[in-house]
Amino acid sequence: MDYLRGVPLDTLTTMRLGGLARYVAEVKTKDDLAAAVAFAREQGLPWFVLGGGSNVVARGDYEGLIILNRIRGFERVAEDVYSATYRIGAGEVWDSVVERLVQAGLGGVEAMSAIPGYAGAAPIQNAGAYGQEIADTLVELEALDTDRGEFVFLSAADCGFSYRNSIFKDPVARHHIISSVTLRLGKGLLGPPSYPSLVQYLEDNAIAAVSPAAVREAVIAIRASKLPDPQDVANAGSFFKNPVVDKALAEQVLARFPDLPCWEMPGGRVKLAAGWLIDQTGLKGHSAYGLQVYPKNALVVVNLYAQTGADLERFTSEVIAAVHEKFGIKLEQEPESL
Ligand code: EPU
Repeated sequence: MDYLRGVPLDTLTTMRLGGLARYVAEVKTKDDLAAAVAFAREQGLPWFVLGGGSNVVARGDYEGLIILNRIRGFERVAEDVYSATYRIGAGEVWDSVVERLVQAGLGGVEAMSAIPGYAGAAPIQNAGAYGQEIADTLVELEALDTDRGEFVFLSAADCGFSYRNSIFKDPVARHHIISSVTLRLGKGLLGPPSYPSLVQYLEDNAIAAVSPAAVREAVIAIRASKLPDPQDVANAGSFFKNPVVDKALAEQVLARFPDLPCWEMPGGRVKLAAGWLIDQTGLKGHSAYGLQVYPKNALVVVNLYAQTGADLERFTSEVIAAVHEKFGIKLEQEPESL
């Protein structure tokens, strides 16, 4: 395995920002992964695992080892009348995994079609879309416990999943590198689609025979209409989290803005649509410093030609300030920072 020196981070992340990584290594096996971590330890350097770099924002140089997780694998490990369970390598392209599972008639991840990145990244932020999240189907995952230097299995409960969050997202406490995920899929849909824009699309297109394949097709079409393809324009998907606030604050805001889309969350909290909040400030389509609030979806920040983390910082602080001024709500960045 090679340790490449001085690799530009803008080539490794879809936001296309950042300086140089001290070292980059591509790992293809569990042994490679353990060796890469040992290398970083010997050098006294931190490490950071990247899949497709589609949910990570680099701002400057990275004085450590970037591990590109390319551990493959796609294997059915169990099956019964209702379900089939697959173990999938962390380095498999996520959307190819969804495509194969949907082709097999299986349900549980079809609404997560066309999410960029690799399978091993999905549990980090509890990736989700159109009413599904990886927490719904993940049975367990295998990971290198970097404190103990051995591979361990973690159950879904061990992962501490919540909205766009898991134990793996804490940059200080985390000490696991995912090598495979095990998903239990239904034979057919796990439930009828309920996410408003998906239901609307199925209705508008008179799709009555709703199957995993039909949902996948619908989600691909919806995403193409409002999310920029990172191949064409640099972006990191939703740049902000939908804020989850106390009921009292939500009620205050809703009294003034009754059209604000919101969802009840566990624990009596309420999730508010950040895209709507930004949209209402009039910033949709606004550009400055080489960045832009994507004209078709205010939750996405696209990088037109910015080259520095400072530009991004300036731009996103202005968006955060505008939302705070109008609604008293503080938006937070959704992608991880490198
Ligand atoms: N909205 C606006 N204006 C906008 C954008 C959205 O008014 O410019 C409104 C929409 O009309 C809708 C509401 O806000 O009523 C929610 O919008 P949408 O359904 O597009 O979903 P989202 O909450 O903006 C989340 C995820 C997306 C995921 C979609 C679909 C987060 C941070 N984002 O977006 O995930 O694709 O739901 O499930 O949770 C990502 O994480 O990178 C990502 C794209």
